[in-house]
Amino acid sequence: MFLETKELTKNFGGLAAVFQLEMSVREGEIVGLIGPNGAGKTTVFNLITGFLRPSGGRILFDGKDISGKKPHLIAKMGIGRTFQLAYLFPEFTVFENIVTSFNLYPKSSFWEALFKTPSYRRKELYILEQAKEILYLVGLEGVKNVLGRNLPHGYQKLLTMARALAIKPRILLLDEPIAGMSLEEINYAMSVIEKIRSQGVTILLVEHNMRIMTLCDRVIVINFGNKIAEGSMEEVRQNQEVMKAYFGREDAA
Ligand SMILES: Nc1ncnc2c1ncn2[C@@H]1O[C@H](COP(=O)(O)OP(=O)(O)OP(=O)(O)O)[C@@H](O)[C@H]1O
Ligand SMILES: [Mg+2]
Repeated sequence: MFLETKELTKNFGGLAAVFQLEMSVREGEIVGLIGPNGAGKTTVFNLITGFLRPSGGRILFDGKDISGKKPHLIAKMGIGRTFQLAYLFPEFTVFENIVTSFNLYPKSSFWEALFKTPSYRRKELYILEQAKEILYLVGLEGVKNVLGRNLPHGYQKLLTMARALAIKPRILLLDEPIAGMSLEEINYAMSVIEKIRSQGVTILLVEHNMRIMTLCDRVIVINFGNKIAEGSMEEVRQNQEVMKAYFGREDAA
């Protein structure tokens, strides 16, 4: 299995936000992780990406145990993410925002940068080229010189996706990638996600807007931090546990 959690648990005081969660993602898949508000979806992302330490259980990525590793090490291994709230540098242009995301994981030493050695310049050129590629992949070339703060919401979300691509992820975790978008923006963002997958990037996404589920090969439903259903969107839609979790009663449609 590409990404796998085993009995993954996270307690916040007396509350188990994630409880003995068993879930897995195969390489190349787009998997949707859904569940009501407070179900533990973002916490799962924070655990996988090292922003939180598990209270129990394990996380395996490409056969390696990554539980409790630091975020930058996990990113380096190829797990990228976006955050539920779009975050970017408001005073930087779109292109600068993408370029700076490469610097989160600097590949040049301080001395190289200070003296602008040839190897530093090569890296700099390489980053600019990569940033351009991402700009095109995400389709932001038309707004590349617009300041972050002047970007419409839909574009801001796309930009955070672009920034997450800087680490060349093998798997990308998207937390509510289409939240607050217009229908047109949603269709566009979905085509971008599909394009990213076609580049060989596996995708695990959290979303309340069910429109995005047409993209997913498979859906995992969690409630109170535990998996309650898994399968195609059609399958989970008809699941009694899922209906109860979302609507609080079994006969809700
Ligand atoms: N840092 C924290 N400290 C204490 N409790 C937290 C913390 N982060 C999350 N929680 C709690 O853990 C539970 C799961 O939260 P989480 O944010 O993972 O849910 P979610 O499924 O992402 O919800 P939403 O759909 O609203 O984004 C909630 O009860 C939340 O209040
Ligand atoms: Mg969340």
